[in-house]
Amino acid sequence: MTDAEFAREILAGVNPMMITRVEFPPKSTLDPSQYGDHTSTITEAHIGLSLEGLTVQQAVASNRLYILDHHDHMMPYLVRLNNLDDTFLYATRTLLFLKGDGTLAPVAIELSTPLLEGGLTTAKSTVYTPASTGVEAWIWQLAKAYVCVNDYGYHQLVSHWLNTHAVMEPFIIATNRQLSVTHPVHKLLHPHYRDTMNINSRARELLVSAGGIIELTVFQRKYAMEMSSVTYKDWNFNEQALPDDLIKRGMAVRDPSSPHKVRLLLEDYPYAVDGLAIWTAIEQWVTEYLAIYYTSDSVLQSDVELQAWWKEVREVGHGDLKDAAWWPKMKTVAELVKACATIIWTGSALHAAVNFGQYPYAGYHPNKPSASRRPMPEPDSEEYSLLARDPEKVFIRTITNQMQAIIGISLLEILSKHSSDEIYLGQRDTPEWTSDAKALEAFKRFGMRLEGIESQVVALNGNPQLKNRNGPAQFPYMLLYPNTSDHTGEAEGLTARGIPNSISI
Ligand SMILES: [Fe+2]
Repeated sequence: MTDAEFAREILAGVNPMMITRVEFPPKSTLDPSQYGDHTSTITEAHIGLSLEGLTVQQAVASNRLYILDHHDHMMPYLVRLNNLDDTFLYATRTLLFLKGDGTLAPVAIELSTPLLEGGLTTAKSTVYTPASTGVEAWIWQLAKAYVCVNDYGYHQLVSHWLNTHAVMEPFIIATNRQLSVTHPVHKLLHPHYRDTMNINSRARELLVSAGGIIELTVFQRKYAMEMSSVTYKDWNFNEQALPDDLIKRGMAVRDPSSPHKVRLLLEDYPYAVDGLAIWTAIEQWVTEYLAIYYTSDSVLQSDVELQAWWKEVREVGHGDLKDAAWWPKMKTVAELVKACATIIWTGSALHAAVNFGQYPYAGYHPNKPSASRRPMPEPDSEEYSLLARDPEKVFIRTITNQMQAIIGISLLEILSKHSSDEIYLGQRDTPEWTSDAKALEAFKRFGMRLEGIESQVVALNGNPQLKNRNGPAQFPYMLLYPNTSDHTGEAEGLTARGIPNSISI
């Protein structure tokens, strides 16, 4: 994979919510009493010449240095993982520089393995920098491959399974148990739950079960569910709202004068640009709809069903996190608007962004390996000589094995397909879902705004100044094209576009 496509997919691929604005040198949040010092070993000497004349400090200050950081969540598992058969993984950090033409370039990759010393799990790290000729070019290809492996596993278990499929269940169950079917919030959220419990139940039988297909195909193997569960401890409902997520990652700042109330620091960030348009449309629809029924905060506070619903979400469904201070108290209409918008966003656009691009973006393992089996060849070793003589052989022996690839790619293909009866955002299966004219009018406006976003996405993809929308592979970013205008059912299969209302695959 070229550096340009590697970097572009961090902004407009299947896992575009990892990139973070960097502090330099990159720090670790691992507990020093257990892990010692895990500060990155990347220095100015590694990247100084790749910054178009800027110093590292200037690059950081002008928002031009970013990171794809898989170090801290990998490191605690590496001793165990690298003791499994046919597995050798690194914890990776990738530094990315925002070039003057608006594209990103990877400028350094740090590969780390655990080093057990003095009762601590410290790191043994090596930093690689771009090379385009000779054996060093293959070393750089391998370094990018180890990064893709980290990203693949995190995408499937956290961005996809945990952050969309799994976290939705408590909302679905509590809605069905606590809100009557005629309750306006039930009517609002119901389409965004379609088939989710069903697909999750099937996933538990076949995919995420012990010995199931996920354990067979992701590098985390038998630790897969444990790693996603551990990550859930840091899940925060408020940060699932796209603007909050972007601000947390340092990719945007609050700006009341901007159309979406946040301003992107990296402007040509297709997931964020399209996502903010969708987020705002959802938020506006929810605001207009709930205003019909909740004319004041006191109406909301005295809504017994609604309060019971939220109590069950927090204390039973998401019970492991019930004591977290960040939960909305559900005392104001604004809190309800934000909560409903976040639930709808998670079930529709967030899931579409991480789900339907899996086969198109990650279905070719030489480009996007899902596992690694051997360490990086060391200079002066036999493996290094072999890399010089027969680089493709070493590369193929290092990445995903044949059986993992056959099963894994088949799974990605199935998961990436839209069904023929898909109901897209802004559509309802029954026009008579409410008899309230004001609600129907607001819903119609929502659909029209989404159709406007469709035109906007197509126009942005056609703008040659925006280099991250199509990338070197000339594959336009359409994962957040809503497809609201399509009522034909012909958009079936591997279309890599469209936002269904709910998680159903
Ligand atoms: Fe999915």
